[in-house]
Amino acid sequence: MGDLAGVVGKLPYLAGLGVDGLWLNPFYASPGHDHGYDVADHCAVDPAYGSLEGFDELVATAHGHGIRVILDVVPNHASIAHPWFAAALAAGPGSPQRGRFHFADGRGPDGNEPPNNWRSIFGGPAWTRISEPDGTPGQWYLHTFAAEQPDWNWTHADVPALFERVLSFWLDRGVDGFRVDVAQGLHKKPGLPDHPDAAADEATGDPVNPNAWNQPAVHQVWRSWRRLVEDYTAADGRDRLLIGEVGLTDPAAVADYTRPGELHHTFCFPFAHAHFDADTYRQVITTALAHHPDGVAWVANNHDLPRAVTRHTPTPSDSDGDGDGEELPAGADPAQIGLARARAAAALMLALPGAVYLYQGEELGLPDVADLPVTVLKDPMYHRSGGTRPGRDGCRVPLPWTTSPDHHHGFSPPATTTPAWLPQPPTWADLAADTQHHTTTSTLNLYRQALALRRTIPDLATTTLTLHTDTPPGLLALTRGTHLTTYTNTTHHPIPTPHPHPGQPILTTHPTPHPTDTIPPNTTVWYHHDDETPA
Ligand code: GLC
Repeated sequence: MGDLAGVVGKLPYLAGLGVDGLWLNPFYASPGHDHGYDVADHCAVDPAYGSLEGFDELVATAHGHGIRVILDVVPNHASIAHPWFAAALAAGPGSPQRGRFHFADGRGPDGNEPPNNWRSIFGGPAWTRISEPDGTPGQWYLHTFAAEQPDWNWTHADVPALFERVLSFWLDRGVDGFRVDVAQGLHKKPGLPDHPDAAADEATGDPVNPNAWNQPAVHQVWRSWRRLVEDYTAADGRDRLLIGEVGLTDPAAVADYTRPGELHHTFCFPFAHAHFDADTYRQVITTALAHHPDGVAWVANNHDLPRAVTRHTPTPSDSDGDGDGEELPAGADPAQIGLARARAAAALMLALPGAVYLYQGEELGLPDVADLPVTVLKDPMYHRSGGTRPGRDGCRVPLPWTTSPDHHHGFSPPATTTPAWLPQPPTWADLAADTQHHTTTSTLNLYRQALALRRTIPDLATTTLTLHTDTPPGLLALTRGTHLTTYTNTTHHPIPTPHPHPGQPILTTHPTPHPTDTIPPNTTVWYHHDDETPA
């Protein structure tokens, strides 16, 4: 499964990679119906992952390496195994215990229709009917995700009070901040009215039902959490961070979550979703900077997305005969193009001002594992959608640390005899961290190099970014500060740098040497120059 002790063991690797913060997915006590995002006890470590003492050791060791620790807090929903949910079931309709969740009577003559037409983001109805303590068919409860994740009712005073205690519990143990799960959720439109387009959540996997998401009252929660973390900072001078997962599709609505006094950051998902295309990146970067002048949190991969290497792998135009694929050069290997593009996109991202979030294994250039046997799939999205949505297991397969396949490529302790929670494909031997460590042009060393430069080049520490517009089609050029210009070639042919003397190349994502005044296909190159070289 991986555990906290395993994380401690890899902190030197993370420090060597050059990261300065670590966001941990939920490790709290949980029956694990959604990879721990169904929390049964917010202040306990699930025994599968370790103990509170082990967690304290992790924080102390991480801090010793200069790595801050950010926890995942899940305030939109609980677990059916949370004691307050059990208390709600036992207490009966109309009780204050039921009031902590969204229980309602069903519609129809026998109450056997859900109370409204909302659909779960994972698929299926957003309501499940319970049996009352006397065994009769009873009320329904709301779950915008899986049935094992009942939504909290944030208008019940116990709920905000619970989360303030939870945040304080972990802040008192030394954590540096929180990644806030489903930050556009929590409050629902009063009365939980039907919405004509309620099926869109299920159809798109995005939070688009305006009655279920993005209610004005949620911003009060973020203001109160911000005050809470600021109190800790005021007391000891250490910064604390709140970064929200806001899945709304309107960038202006997302920007509301980082207004003064609310969350510090929200993830820039449009960067992760962008096609590998210069114009698209230019537009995504321009929009993100316009909406988040105080800092964008860039992201290309996370535990919910197919890995970038796979997303950027082109479908050749004639592969399925429908003509909507991509025209590839003769003999090109789509998988190699996917890897080249993921590397180029990463180097573009690492040249941008703000924060960058990397997802475990992206520094190894791991692809998604698309052919996991159905019997090992864990994601409720797969199961609730009746298999029509593949789910997210393919990006969660354990990293190959060692080329040797022993102990799941070094993921598990030597004595392990059971399979890893998700199996690694045999081809991952070639991507193992130990081999990449010794290979100069490996993806691991590319990330290390980029992260080191990000720390040492003063222009990259500024907030100044100029996006050039006078570049040939398919070439994205940007200058940071005055001395650093990067080019990303999103085409399949080499493009000469617009300026004949672009400067000293200090980073290239192309694996083999190339002329300094040419950007190879699907490649990003960083140049350092003494003067203000125009793009
Ligand atoms: C967030 C998490 C995702 C989880 C969902 C429900 O989107 O990132 O992994 O399934 O919330 O908690």
